[in-house]
Amino acid sequence: MLLDEIVKKLNDQVVKEMYASNLYLNMSSWCYINGYDGAGMFLFEHAKEESSHATKLITYLNETDSLLVLKAIDKPESNFNSLLDVFEKTYEHELKVTKSINELVDLAFSLKDYSTFNFLQWYVSEQHEEETLFRGIKDKISLAGSSDTSLYLIDEYIKGLTGK
Ligand SMILES: [Fe+2]
Ligand SMILES: [Fe+2]
Repeated sequence: MLLDEIVKKLNDQVVKEMYASNLYLNMSSWCYINGYDGAGMFLFEHAKEESSHATKLITYLNETDSLLVLKAIDKPESNFNSLLDVFEKTYEHELKVTKSINELVDLAFSLKDYSTFNFLQWYVSEQHEEETLFRGIKDKISLAGSSDTSLYLIDEYIKGLTGK
């Protein structure tokens, strides 16, 4: 049985992961509309990963006899200035999620909830990987510049990251 405070924060995290999934779906759509099919595919795949982060949390709530009480998910942004803008925002978003995970880890540790503390380590590693991934893409877009040819090549590079 988990403490109410932990259950509440885990519930909040579920909504944050769902928000991330929706944000990346909007970004994916913007990319497709603007001719960046590689980035569109990459973000579409990544949205599925964010959704799986939410369901993994829900499974943990189920396993610990804790109730899922979903709140409304905020409307994510849907208009972007450029491919660089999209990936700067994915990176900023991942930093926010890392902060939220770290706060949860802190809380679990301070309340001596070692089961949740241990469960959350998966998210700590995942955030490290995602920050590295998104920072890498953002930096490559910056380096390549904004000519049509560069953006075409960058989009192909991002497509390559999907393994498709
Ligand atoms: Fe996530
Ligand atoms: Fe993420």
